Amino acid sequence: MPPNQKTTLLAFENEDVERVGAYQKKGYRTTPILFVNGERVPDGVAANARPNQTLLSFLRDELLLTGSKLGCAEGGCGACTVMLSKLDMETKKIKHISVNACLMPVLAADGCHVTTVEGVGSVKGDNLHPVQKAMVDMHGSQCGFCTPGIIVSIYTLFANNANKEHIEEHLDGNLCRCTGYRPIWDAARSLCDDTDTVRGPCGIACRDCPEREECEQDCNVEDKKTETDKMVCSSSADKMKQYKDTFLSDRETWMQQPTLMFPKALQDEQSTERSMMTKPLMVVDRTDFHAGGTWFKPTTLEELLALLNEFGGTGTSACKIVVGNTEVGIETRFKHAVYPRLIHPSDKIQSLYGFEVADANIQIGSCCSLSTIQEKSGDVSSQSTALKRTALPMHDMLRWFASTQIRNVACLGGNLVTASPISDMNPMLASLGAKLVLASFDKDTSGVSRRSVAVSDFFLKYRTVDLKPTEVVECIDVPVVQPIFEYVKPFKQARRREDDISIVTAGMRIRLAAKGGKFMIEETAIAFGGMAPTTIMAVKTMEALTGAEFSAESFTKASETLITEIKLPEGVPGGQAGFRMTLASSFLYKFYLSVVEELKADCAKYQADPSAFSGVTVEGDLPSCPEVDEKEHTGTQNFLSDKKPSPSGTQFYPAPKVATGCEDQILPKVKPMAQKDGASAVGKDSAHMSGPLHCTGEALYTDDIPLPPKTLQAALVLSNECGRVLESIDVTPALGIPGVVGVYSLEDLLSLGGKNEMGPILKDELLFLPIGEKVRTVGQCLGICVAESLEAAELGARTVKVVYGGDAGKVAVTIADAVEAGQCFEISRRDLVRGDPAVIEALSSAPEAPAEPKVGDVVTVSGTFRSGAQEHFYLETNSTLAVPSESNTNLTIYVSTQAPTKTQNFCASTTGTPAMKVVVRMKRMGGGFGGKETRSVFASCAAAVAAKISSRPVRLTLSRDVDMSITGTRHAFTTEYRASAKITEDGVKLEALDIQLHNNGGMAFDLSGPVMDRALFHIDGCYYFPNMRARGLVCKTVQAPHTAFRGFGGPQGIAACEHVIDHLGVACKVSADDLRRGNMYQTGQATHFGMILDDVHGGTWQVPRMWDRLETELGVSKMREAAAEFNAKNKWIKRGVALIPTKFGIAFTAKYMNQGGSLVHLYTDGTVLVSHGGTEMGQGLHTKVCQVAAQAFGIPVDHVYVNDTSTDKVANTIPTAASHSTDMYGMSTLDACRQIIARLDPVRAKLGPDASLKEIANAAFMERIDLSAHGFFRLIDSRCGFDWDKDKPEDYPDDLPANSWKGHPFNYFTQGVCFCEVEIDTLTGNHKTLRSDIIIDVGSSINPAIDIGQVEGAFVQGMGWATIEEVVYADDDHTWIRPRGKLFTTGPGTYKIPAFNDVPEIFNVSLLENADNPFAVHSSKAIGEPPFYLGATVYYAIKDAVRAARKENLGYDKYFEFRMPATSERIRMLCADELSNQATSKMLGQENAGPDYQTQGSY
Ligand SMILES: Cc1cc2nc3c(=O)[nH]c(=O)nc-3n(C[C@H](O)[C@H](O)[C@H](O)COP(=O)(O)OP(=O)(O)OC[C@H]3O[C@@H](n4cnc5c(N)ncnc54)[C@H](O)[C@@H]3O)c2cc1C
Ligand code: FES
Ligand code: FES
Repeated sequence: MPPNQKTTLLAFENEDVERVGAYQKKGYRTTPILFVNGERVPDGVAANARPNQTLLSFLRDELLLTGSKLGCAEGGCGACTVMLSKLDMETKKIKHISVNACLMPVLAADGCHVTTVEGVGSVKGDNLHPVQKAMVDMHGSQCGFCTPGIIVSIYTLFANNANKEHIEEHLDGNLCRCTGYRPIWDAARSLCDDTDTVRGPCGIACRDCPEREECEQDCNVEDKKTETDKMVCSSSADKMKQYKDTFLSDRETWMQQPTLMFPKALQDEQSTERSMMTKPLMVVDRTDFHAGGTWFKPTTLEELLALLNEFGGTGTSACKIVVGNTEVGIETRFKHAVYPRLIHPSDKIQSLYGFEVADANIQIGSCCSLSTIQEKSGDVSSQSTALKRTALPMHDMLRWFASTQIRNVACLGGNLVTASPISDMNPMLASLGAKLVLASFDKDTSGVSRRSVAVSDFFLKYRTVDLKPTEVVECIDVPVVQPIFEYVKPFKQARRREDDISIVTAGMRIRLAAKGGKFMIEETAIAFGGMAPTTIMAVKTMEALTGAEFSAESFTKASETLITEIKLPEGVPGGQAGFRMTLASSFLYKFYLSVVEELKADCAKYQADPSAFSGVTVEGDLPSCPEVDEKEHTGTQNFLSDKKPSPSGTQFYPAPKVATGCEDQILPKVKPMAQKDGASAVGKDSAHMSGPLHCTGEALYTDDIPLPPKTLQAALVLSNECGRVLESIDVTPALGIPGVVGVYSLEDLLSLGGKNEMGPILKDELLFLPIGEKVRTVGQCLGICVAESLEAAELGARTVKVVYGGDAGKVAVTIADAVEAGQCFEISRRDLVRGDPAVIEALSSAPEAPAEPKVGDVVTVSGTFRSGAQEHFYLETNSTLAVPSESNTNLTIYVSTQAPTKTQNFCASTTGTPAMKVVVRMKRMGGGFGGKETRSVFASCAAAVAAKISSRPVRLTLSRDVDMSITGTRHAFTTEYRASAKITEDGVKLEALDIQLHNNGGMAFDLSGPVMDRALFHIDGCYYFPNMRARGLVCKTVQAPHTAFRGFGGPQGIAACEHVIDHLGVACKVSADDLRRGNMYQTGQATHFGMILDDVHGGTWQVPRMWDRLETELGVSKMREAAAEFNAKNKWIKRGVALIPTKFGIAFTAKYMNQGGSLVHLYTDGTVLVSHGGTEMGQGLHTKVCQVAAQAFGIPVDHVYVNDTSTDKVANTIPTAASHSTDMYGMSTLDACRQIIARLDPVRAKLGPDASLKEIANAAFMERIDLSAHGFFRLIDSRCGFDWDKDKPEDYPDDLPANSWKGHPFNYFTQGVCFCEVEIDTLTGNHKTLRSDIIIDVGSSINPAIDIGQVEGAFVQGMGWATIEEVVYADDDHTWIRPRGKLFTTGPGTYKIPAFNDVPEIFNVSLLENADNPFAVHSSKAIGEPPFYLGATVYYAIKDAVRAARKENLGYDKYFEFRMPATSERIRMLCADELSNQATSKMLGQENAGPDYQTQGSY
């Protein structure tokens, strides 16, 4: 609580209230001037803006503008993006910038105009802005939660007259977890007038291609369409062209909108607002329950210094300067720092905001925004070579510093004063020899006193700087370097290129002098971030270089010095010690290579005209430059200065058709309704039906629902330890906080007659942990605190005093820990065998693979493989609103969940309410991906208990860090295997596989058993192993219970299999492509669980056909050769390619879950309302169901509507999961439609074929025909269910496949193949995906646009899982995190999902033609999960590239375990060159280091 704020029972009182009068006398105004969406916020409302309130909270809670979303509260996702416009006093132009409203203080918007997504356009009156329209038309939204932020980002770029390159450069601050970004790229670039490049699958612009006429893979959409009506093909460029004649024709008009909306009052010099704006501002919070503090906005440097002086400087209890709030905001939100007074210097203080080139310096105002510095550094770079050498490195570093939204507000002073050890600009400035100018109030003169300090001396110790509390950093002076023979380079490596904090960052500068026929190093400055608790200068290394000759030898010696100088112990805070040391020396080497290259160019320039460099002394002849092997040239590559890619893609799909699937076999046939308006609904690429609402921010999510009167805000009371006993919970301190209404726990639940047990399969979870029990996980729910404000609820929850007893000991965190401790869920144990047990048994005693295998040999391998966990990172966190009614006997739960019925049942049982009195309503989710199948339920139950006890509505929305900490992830898996293959004349044939899987289930069973089952079902990949044993066991650890996630164990199973295939390929010395193709299932063969892959059982087996097609069309073998050729010529950049198939079984493996219901009402106006048991999370389920119903009734799709999913409309539903929902709800909806259509028969006969549905419905109503029907579908018994323990019946026919007596777990398989090509930087571990090509069999698509969206989105999510997404726990490998068991990756700052820049540069998707599926509605196939695994192809391509690097560096090509994910750390370290070896030897000792060193990871 703020120290200057007293607590009363009613409110937090602020002592500055008494100072207001005095400040008013000094000329301060006390109410901010705020404009939002063209209107001035009335003073009465603006006066409620609190100093500690974010702009987002003000917009959503005060103005009820809920279009802008809260995704993370830490500036890492962009869901909250709004546009801020202000008049630039210098240029008199309006400046538009995008900002993160979740970090920006509302009072920082004083005098600005804020545009939210609601101000951009609206569905009302069909008033969509072109940016919104393009996003809808190009399928740029799925769940829609990220969409408003993305719309505003793009809108802001156009407000600044963006071109295509600008857009590609600046969409770095928004994340989308659903779409895979490609359609968003298309939508944004379609509105640029410089977009006309057409690139086909080959990557060349078709329309410019000389071989266009001969090319067989012509991808010019329009041409293609006219050639054949069998396929539709659209490329990114053609989509962009689509708008040429519409929006682009009046581009100037709509691009003016932001300027036209800018309030006149802020432009007119005579306006009251403008004259008010000249005054300083003081705002004192007087609201209840918020502890808002005081805000000052001084307008002169003197006022600012006087404030610092009056309040005793920037001590924690005094005041705090805040500019962008991107650090202070994080400290207050996540570290709970309290700053009672915030001082926000006005941009009228020129010395703080300027950017000047003066004398031999660039002078940068400390509060100047980073984007202004970036822009101006770019501008001045064109003025002279010296300025370019000085400013361009800063510009390049800033390009990758945070995101556009952050850079638009954050300042350099903030970066310096924060003194983060991983700051990007601090090493840069230190290497440039920059100095800070510090200003303070001069008590003697009452003026300004100044002193100067070098950046390299500014950082005293961890987050401590040489700045007195009463000082402000006024500006930073950067000396300009020499125009020749002086070089500066920035370096940065992070987990993700865009918007990520560095692992290691560096600035390096060197000045050379030509002396005695040599280039001598005259001056060196090498600064690192990420290598110590502060930014450091590598002093010894600098000394080693300075005075030495500029040569490879000098740098080799310097590198040895460096590695000693920056040596890190293995368990260093932040981890990654070996990687960090390797990066530091790799950067140094890259620096050397770059300087050689630039020196060569300088020498040429000098020789051409020495007089141009009169200030530079060259003694004697110009020396020659050191030579560098041509192969090393790629070592100079640095993504910081690379052009950002311009991703594009082509989508092919069969021309729309209405195919018949299983409906006519299962449902009663009816006389088809005539299709009105000619068009069929099924097969069309209609946009997501909520698209327009998503794009205008008018789609309501749970947290947007207007709150009923007296709603309480809630926060969970969570344990911060595990393994110890919960001794007591004392809620008294929390109850003393103003606004806190109650803290409820087990006692309260029991007083309601509720049951405390939960869990989807085993009831092994508790809602609230009882006193006396052992805490099972960090973040276990102990209670719930409810209060009048969210701040009070959160403070209350944190203030509850929890006492733990006993010793935790070494709790099991990882699978290895659990195996060692024998902690597992016995119920999950599986053992499936097919083939000859003796052959499998023999694997364990088989000799190691021969060095040179020959025909007849059986090659046996053994090894381990690990795949990591994955956070769902749905953009909308879990959210619930529980509303009691009927004197607390009823509950309505509005919730974001995939499982309304489960939520209903558990809310009923935990509150002692019969299920009939609990209604659960779910409108839409901002993403789920499996994470809201079971893990959302406990939050609803906690809110329900609180609502019933307090008799008031309760809203509980989990903050991102809490959501990530406690709701579980995809399961990490470890695998041990033995496998064999026989070398035959016809190639290598798989012989046997014995594989044991373990997954990390966490502290409760949740769905871990079924996840393991599905992994075992997919352990064969697409390959036939004649002899096979697959075992699985779920491990019990202290992690949060892990759960469903797209693929549900399938991807982990396939990944293990593909690892074995790769291993066998290396051991047998054959190409993995040949091994894969040669052992792929053939039609008629059965899987290890007995399902035959043919037209009757698993569905037509298409994988070989798709594989062959992709291989031929792309010329994969030629691409492999080209990559090998590239690799032979380049030492430091390597390319890799991979071709990977997938098959994914469709159906719930639990038989009872394969059922679904729908309720259909036909209204007398001819429109249809469908309610069904499935939930909409962005996957387009409702759109497809509407298409099915529209087709049945012969009406346009927009005459059908699906409202929210509600347990009082369709009861006893199963969670929306397993990709199976269209199959089920399409069928149950069709069942209901057909029942109604059958009843309409007599009326149709009477009215004749021309009657409209409206006429028919009306007439039927008059004849008292029921126009509503409940439809139901269940998958037939013979196509679902599997009994693992069933033995072969005695009379079971021998000619049927092994294990087929256990059941038929899947209805059919969705199948696909993917090709990827990547490039890795072996010095840094950076990778980029050059291209991805996918063919996938989705049957006859009901909606190809949605299906392609699912493919692309799943691919990118799968790519994230397999590459950059790494979940980290406090375990043996991460001892610097405390306490053991705690999750470290709890937000976008530490956990990186793919961003815009990670998309494959060429991304082509084809839906297979002629691929009907008789087993599902309209012959379609399920699509949500199957393509996920194809994203892992990027990982295999990376592995291929790493293998090439290892081969070159180690001189041999041996198997290595490349753990998943392929993080930059693993890529770099496994490339195993001299530098990584040097670093690991230094860290671990020579004997422990080696080419296979990699960090353990949290599995
Ligand atoms: C999502 C996200 C991504 C980020 N990515 C990066 C990144 O890639 N690289 C990186 O280096 N950093 C990164 N940061 C950190 C942060 O953005 C920078 O440190 C930024 O420069 C801080 O500036 P600010 O204006 O927001 O500071 P504020 O939060 O406003 O202030 C930070 C501190 O500086 C003090 N301060 C500010 N100005 C002055 C002044 N003129 N005189 C004296 N004290 C002053 C404040 O009192 C406070 O202590 C990131 C932060 C976020 C939230
Ligand atoms: S909510 Fe603001 S960036 Fe995520
Ligand atoms: S549509 Fe982007 S997160 Fe769902």
